[in-house]
Amino acid sequence: MLRLLALILVTCSAFGVSTAKADNSELQLLLQKNNCLACHLIDKRKYGPNLKEVAEKYAGDSGAVERLAAKIKAGGTGVWGEDIMPPQAQVSDADAQKIAKLVLSLQ
Ligand code: HEC
Repeated sequence: MLRLLALILVTCSAFGVSTAKADNSELQLLLQKNNCLACHLIDKRKYGPNLKEVAEKYAGDSGAVERLAAKIKAGGTGVWGEDIMPPQAQVSDADAQKIAKLVLSLQ
């Protein structure tokens, strides 16, 4: 099963289906699981900010993991423009923390 998943990931990136690099695959899976990809991509702007931009904006900000984890669940507006991110109540606290950390470590 894992081997099959790896094969699919490799095939997708070889054909340019996914822009995520192999080292972003954990983040990519979490975004997929929590329905974030409707609005966010890792390195292209969609409805919401692209997640590499988010990492750049908060580089060196030690409180950013906690704040972003809370914002992922609560949603909000006004930081990146007028668009609104609706609350994402389906996201567990553990996933919100993990996603915030992985987003902030994007380069
Ligand atoms: C309906 C579209 C939509 C969905 C679904 C969505 N977002 Fe967002 N997201 C946005 C918008 C719009 C913003 C910009 C909000 C702002 O300017 O404050 C945003 C902002 C963010 C930010 C930056 C917050 C900040 O204050 O800088 C992060 C991180 C983020 N989203 C992560 C996620 C994650 C993780 C998920 C999935 C659990 C998700 N988003 C689902 C639209 C969405």
